[in-house]
Amino acid sequence: MPEPLGKVIDLPDRQHLRKLSALHGIDDVIIQAERYLQLFSRMALAPDVRDELNLQNTMLLYGPPGVGKTVLAHGLASLHAKRTGAHSGLFEFAPDRQASDLKGGTSKNVRRLCRFIRDMAGKYAVFYVVMNECESNFGNRLDVNPSIEPLDTMRGIEAWLDGLDQIKKDCANALIVMSTNQPGRIDPALRDRIDLSIAVRPPLADGREQILRDTVRGAARVLNVHEHLLDDACLPDWQRVVQMTDGYSGRALKRLIVNSLTNKKSSEPLTMDVILKTAANLLEHDMAHGDGPETCLRPRSPRL
Ligand SMILES: Nc1ncnc2c1ncn2[C@@H]1O[C@H](COP(=O)(O)OP(=O)(O)OP(=O)(O)O)[C@@H](O)[C@H]1O
Ligand SMILES: [Mg+2]
Repeated sequence: MPEPLGKVIDLPDRQHLRKLSALHGIDDVIIQAERYLQLFSRMALAPDVRDELNLQNTMLLYGPPGVGKTVLAHGLASLHAKRTGAHSGLFEFAPDRQASDLKGGTSKNVRRLCRFIRDMAGKYAVFYVVMNECESNFGNRLDVNPSIEPLDTMRGIEAWLDGLDQIKKDCANALIVMSTNQPGRIDPALRDRIDLSIAVRPPLADGREQILRDTVRGAARVLNVHEHLLDDACLPDWQRVVQMTDGYSGRALKRLIVNSLTNKKSSEPLTMDVILKTAANLLEHDMAHGDGPETCLRPRSPRL
C-alpha cells in the first residue's frame, strides 16, 4: 500500500483566512499575488488566450525565513476561493514524500504525485498545490554531484518538469504556488516555468508595530501583561522598538515578545522596559555574532 501523498482540504479554510488577515506590512505583496490569482481564474475560462500568453499556472514566493510565505500561499488560495465561491481544494505537498532509496524510486514517486494532482484537479473547480521549500524538489541540476548524490535526484527533477508540463496542459484549473528562501538554488528550467516570482520581504515599520502590538494583545489574554502597555502613552517606546527591529521577519518579531515574556520575573507583568531591554540585547547579540543562530532574526534578502 503506497504512503499517502499529503492532505487535500476544501477551501476556504477559516484558519488560513485568519492568519492571512493577521499579516501586516506586506500589502504590496498581497495585492500583486491577488492580481495574479485573478488572471489565472480568467484564463482558466479562456484557453486560447491562455495558450497565447503561455501561462504556466505557477507562482513563486521567495524571501528570507519567517516572512509569511507559507501563510500567504494558504491564505491567498482561501481568500480567492471565498471571493469566487468556486468549489476549491488545496493540496500541500511535503517535499520529503518524493525521495526514495530505491533505484528509480524518486522519479516514480514524482510521477505518482503529478498523476494525483491531475486526478484531484478533476474533482474541483479550482485546485491549488502548495509546494514549500521547493528548492528541495527543483534543485539546480548543475549542482547535483553525481559522485555523492544519486542520479535519481536528477531524474526526479526531470520527472517534475515533465509532470508540470502535463498538469499545465491538462488542468487549466490547477495553480501551483511554490515558496523558497533559496531561490538561487532552483533549476533554471523550473524558473523559466514560473509566471510570477514575488519577493516577500520583512514587514515595513507600520507593519512591525502592528505585529508587535497584536502579539502582545494576544498574550495578554492569558499571560501577565502590564495594563498600560498598549496605551497611546507607550507609542513613542513602541516606535523605538520598531526602529530597533528594522529587517526582522514577522516570525522574529513574535519571538522578541516570547523572549521578553521569559526575561521578566514570573510574578511581574510584561512591561515596555523588559521589551526594550530584550530588543537591545538581541540587537547587540546580532551585531556581535554575525553568523550566530540569532542572525536568523535579521534575515538577509536573497536575490533571484
Ligand atoms: N508580515 C507579517 N505579519 C504578521 N505575521 C507575520 C508576518 N510575516 C510572518 N508572520 C508570522 O510569522 C510566522 C511564520 O510565517 P510563515 O511560516 O508563513 O513564514 P515563511 O516565510 O513561510 O518561513 P519559512 O521560509 O521558514 O518557511 C507565522 O506565524 C506568521 O503569521
Ligand atoms: Mg514556509
